[in-house]
Amino acid sequence: MRDESAPHPPIDPRALRNALGQFATGVAIVTAPGLDGQDVGMTISSFNSVSLDPPLLLFSIARNAHSLATLEVAGRIGINILSSAQEDLSSRFARAGTEKWKDCTRAVDEHGAPLIEGALAHFECAPYAQHDGGDHVIFVVRVLRFATPHDAEPLIFFKGKYRSVTGLPMPGETQMESHS
Ligand SMILES: Cc1cc2nc3c(=O)[nH]c(=O)nc-3n(C[C@H](O)[C@H](O)[C@H](O)COP(=O)(O)O)c2cc1C
Repeated sequence: MRDESAPHPPIDPRALRNALGQFATGVAIVTAPGLDGQDVGMTISSFNSVSLDPPLLLFSIARNAHSLATLEVAGRIGINILSSAQEDLSSRFARAGTEKWKDCTRAVDEHGAPLIEGALAHFECAPYAQHDGGDHVIFVVRVLRFATPHDAEPLIFFKGKYRSVTGLPMPGETQMESHS
């Protein structure tokens, strides 16, 4: 039977990826305490805010990511929003099987979620919901504590490349309200 929801003509994955790359994002590292004492962490751009009351965030994780199994059962999850000075860390945490945490300075946490020093913002979270997202799993987490320890430029990802924001809002420019 024909799948009525299947697109015609079929979608070219590379073209789709390029189109999605037009959406500029920040970059974060999501972390969780490892079951065997080895903490996991991976670079993500699929981070977003969901709700202020209760305070909920979301991100999606590829089903073939090594960190997935640990994240699925983690009681605590950390999210670290990277600064433009942390491109090397982003690249390291985007490579599977490397010594991701080597020489990585930890920030002090209160709830057992691994945090990375130098991040613009930290969120210590508890699991809230997980949803099927095709070849990804969508995680919704609840914020237990957050901090914004550094006021610096964010790391930006756009069209498959790292970028930086080169300037503050122009004087007199209207502040845009985000949806939340
Ligand atoms: C800028 C950037 C953003 C990324 N965003 C995501 C993401 O949102 N979800 C995801 O599953 N992988 C994402 N990745 C890929 C993972 O970081 C990469 O697959 C990593 O090796 C997974 O680590 P692990 O297999 O050790 O868990 C991103 C990579 C980069 C460089």
